[in-house]
Amino acid sequence: MQKILDLISEEMKKAFEAAGYEGELGRVTLSNRPDLCEYQCNGAMAGAKKYHKAPLVIAQDVAGQLGESEVFSEVTAVAPGFLNLKVKEAFVRNYLRRMQESEKFGMEMPDKAKKIIIDYGGPNVAKPLHVGHLRSGIIGESIKRICRYAGHEVIGDIHLGDWGLQMGLIITELQKRMPKLVYFDDAYTGEYPKEAPFTISELEEIYPTASAKSKEDEAYKAAAMEATYKLQNGVRGYRALWQHIINVSVADLKRNYENLQVEFDLWKGESDVHDIIPGMVEEMKKGGYAYESDGALVVDVKEETDTKEVPPCMILKSDGASLYNTTDLATIMDRMANYHPDKLIYLTDKRQELYFEQVFRCARKTKLVNEDTELVHIGFGTMNGKDGKPFKTREGGVMRLENLIREINEEMIRKIQDNAKTKGYEVDAEQAEETAKIVGLAAIKYGDLSNQASKDYIFDMDRFTSFEGDTGPYILYTIVRIKSILSKYVEQGGKLTDIVIEDATSVSEKDMMLELAKFNAMMETAYEEIAPHRICAYIYDLANAFNRFYHETKILTEEDNRRKAGWIALLKLTKDVLEVCIDLLGFSAPDRM
Ligand code: ARG
Repeated sequence: MQKILDLISEEMKKAFEAAGYEGELGRVTLSNRPDLCEYQCNGAMAGAKKYHKAPLVIAQDVAGQLGESEVFSEVTAVAPGFLNLKVKEAFVRNYLRRMQESEKFGMEMPDKAKKIIIDYGGPNVAKPLHVGHLRSGIIGESIKRICRYAGHEVIGDIHLGDWGLQMGLIITELQKRMPKLVYFDDAYTGEYPKEAPFTISELEEIYPTASAKSKEDEAYKAAAMEATYKLQNGVRGYRALWQHIINVSVADLKRNYENLQVEFDLWKGESDVHDIIPGMVEEMKKGGYAYESDGALVVDVKEETDTKEVPPCMILKSDGASLYNTTDLATIMDRMANYHPDKLIYLTDKRQELYFEQVFRCARKTKLVNEDTELVHIGFGTMNGKDGKPFKTREGGVMRLENLIREINEEMIRKIQDNAKTKGYEVDAEQAEETAKIVGLAAIKYGDLSNQASKDYIFDMDRFTSFEGDTGPYILYTIVRIKSILSKYVEQGGKLTDIVIEDATSVSEKDMMLELAKFNAMMETAYEEIAPHRICAYIYDLANAFNRFYHETKILTEEDNRRKAGWIALLKLTKDVLEVCIDLLGFSAPDRM
């Protein structure tokens, strides 16, 4: 379905042509002066020079052609030569009726779907999830859903950090504590136990302990590196222990991500490409790309046009060990071979920007990807506390994700109960808790996604959980309000099917309709810019437009049944659009709140 602005522009272009001017001048934009008009066209100003005419004369000529227009109800040429425009109620109504009937509200699908892999989340096994992982999960999930909605084939991969030094550290600490474990017995050839010799809480304590020790104790660190080496080179007992660490940790991660409504299609990790690294390295050497420098193997990736220094991409360390970029490059190779993606999107903290620049250049240079494979890194900013510094607990430690969510939920319960009190009804504790979970998630996600991803933002518990303003709970509150009107309409005996949107009868109603009509244009932008914040801005405007209409319209007591049904149809479309949008942001609405 064509975008409403394009339809309007087409009508205007025809008028320019009919008046003897170039049609291209007829491009219409949203009004800069919503108090005066809904849309405007500045083409007469642009045409003045070419046609040696006063812009106002051109504007008047064009306006003269639009007396019978099916699109415009008002076309006013104003000095020095603007065309101020209002569209016909019937035109907007018809547009929304078509939206209502169309799949995805008329959003146009690509001729050929792209295959896109999104690499997000990226937690490290055996390390507790903290708020740093929150953004990658939240933004990545939304981007995944947006790309899918836009008609593409999308695979989300968590890309676990499951192969690095942290594994060696844990194994070393386990060996110190339980040297008798069969995993450390080189002579053992039997099967290893099915049960892990530790729990997730033990694991979460072991890692930081080991990490701290390695920073103070050189010998301990050397032992951890040795253990990492043994693990990576396939020592049986170490592999078995590692598998336990993965299993225990992944079970915990799955629970956490499920709570966040973040769903991965693939749970692959750095370790999955271990075996293909030697082959890749060989190819890079054979191709003449990789060479030795101070014992290490590197690929140059600097380019003449660089304004900053881009260091070579290191493929192997001097001791032959692989690095973070080695696994990333091998993962690209693996993804190309097994999934043939057209595009790879990575989500990490923006401090990894230069890193991905190196990796992408190296992948292109060494021909791991096709010439037209798109490689995109989205670097996001930091989530800060109210003091403007990276978010911490009240005690100054790293905030664990679970605790953050708990704090939000507690605050949400308080707000839900306060709200009920002011409205004069009761909510039972259990229901408040259920609702708080849903609304709390919206508060966190919307608070994050409403900012442009690359920007830092301040995590403000009070603001994020507020039922008013540009917040998740406000959007949900609006949806719940609409749901309640719709169900009352049904209780009155009304039907939600076979009802159609009618002409607007007030300014607020028309404004709301015009807001709704922007959906497909907004979605196209959100997809092209890979920008969930576009959706947030749109639903905030739409929710505001609805609430203005709602406050000045007595919907359920309206006596004209046709008009009432028209409003209900409009509300239903608004709710459907809002619900699709929040789903694309990765949260949902409760039935009541
Ligand atoms: N595990 C990494 C970290 O915690 C993030 C992984 C990002 N993805 C990637 N393909 N490098 O920093």
